[in-house]
Amino acid sequence: MASKSIRKDDLIFRPRGAQDDRGLLELFNEENFLHNASVRAPFASCAEMRIWLDGIAAAKRFEIVAVSNGEIVGFAGLYTMADAQSHLGWVILGVRKTFQGRGIGAALMHMLIATARVFVGLQRLQLTVFSDNQAAMRLYRKFGFEIEGRHRRFVRRGADFVDAFTMALLFDDGEAARPDAETLPQLRRARAASSLDHRGRWVAA
Ligand SMILES: CC(C)(COP(=O)(O)OP(=O)(O)OC[C@H]1O[C@@H](n2cnc3c(N)ncnc32)[C@H](O)[C@@H]1OP(=O)(O)O)[C@@H](O)C(=O)NCCC(=O)NCCS
Repeated sequence: MASKSIRKDDLIFRPRGAQDDRGLLELFNEENFLHNASVRAPFASCAEMRIWLDGIAAAKRFEIVAVSNGEIVGFAGLYTMADAQSHLGWVILGVRKTFQGRGIGAALMHMLIATARVFVGLQRLQLTVFSDNQAAMRLYRKFGFEIEGRHRRFVRRGADFVDAFTMALLFDDGEAARPDAETLPQLRRARAASSLDHRGRWVAA
């Protein structure tokens, strides 16, 4: 059985780069991700996946990959909005099935929250989660996200439909959202090896 913990030395967090397409395709095409988090059919190719990911509307994007022994094991994206919504960001999160339950999702969420709160100065994070995705909802609640509303028959799954919730975290809600001592140095290291490209995308330097 896989160990519950992952050795910190084996896990690297860094900005998403062009070399990550293959690993991200594997993550987003995994049955577990498709079932729990996707409104799309599997991507046919890296190019199709990249068009989707790059096409997410955002004023700025902060995309972090978790890498273990050269393999992409997790992804987290923060997409900030513009103008009268420049205080808010959308969140996407996913961990490869065999690496779940080892703290990677939580580590990624810590980094997104630190980015949103400390580096970007957002006031609100929001996301959509399928109503039967207990693991994700538990994680989000742990970080202070609250359900704001239900989208009925949000996604088709076979012959059935699944509802979804919008969950949000407001940064005036206290301690739950504060970055811990480990997260900020990790994030600074990741950011030091990165820059914003001409499209406002956070990329490996
Ligand atoms: C949701 C997801 C990102 C969690 O990532 P993870 O690396 O497995 O999570 P962690 O090991 O960091 O666990 C963090 C917390 O999440 C919750 N959690 C994780 N797995 C859980 C499970 N199987 N059942 C219940 N809660 C769970 C717990 O609160 C856990 O904290 P705890 O162990 O202290 O109780 C991961 O399961 C995943 O990628 N699922 C498929 C894609 C997906 O659902 N993405 C979210 C779309 S909205």
